Amino acid sequence: MRKFLVCLGVVAAVAALFVACKKQEEAPTAETAMTAETAEVAMEGNVENGLALFKNVDLGTTGKSCETCHPNGGTEGMEMEGMATKPLTGVKDRYPGVFMMLDPEKEVTLAEVINFCITNPLGGEALAEDSQEMKDFLAYLESL
Ligand code: HEC
Repeated sequence: MRKFLVCLGVVAAVAALFVACKKQEEAPTAETAMTAETAEVAMEGNVENGLALFKNVDLGTTGKSCETCHPNGGTEGMEMEGMATKPLTGVKDRYPGVFMMLDPEKEVTLAEVINFCITNPLGGEALAEDSQEMKDFLAYLESL
């Protein structure tokens, strides 16, 4: 009888260990799935963050933001000394295309135009094309 009880105890312990192992095996799977999901969200551009960047004077060093020359989130144009801007609505359909201020003879991408505007009128540093900021910028401009 005692032997039987010990045996039962061992079986129970093994069963408990097995359940514990199984749980541990499952845990990383759920975690991996979440990481992949988070990564996917991070890969996409965020329109709201893009608008915040559009209005951010800290992107450059001249105290200007994109909003300075492209008012109302770029939905309006304006006139300034010697130049004028048109609304940025539908801008995604114009690029890749020629952006006169950058190169009158070569087609450029919208990301290149954005970087030109960050490095020139804003006096800032160009964003890496695969950076989250650039994705957010593109998501915003493509939403117009
Ligand atoms: C000092 C004024 C100024 C600032 C600041 C400025 N831009 Fe511009 N931008 C212009 C002018 C001028 C043009 C050319 C005229 C036009 O296309 O409306 C232009 C053109 C563009 C175009 C091309 C529009 C088209 O239809 O082809 C995009 C895109 C653009 N700007 C984005 C930006 C972004 C993004 C920022 C901020 C990082 C920015 N601009 C900051 C003056 C400015």
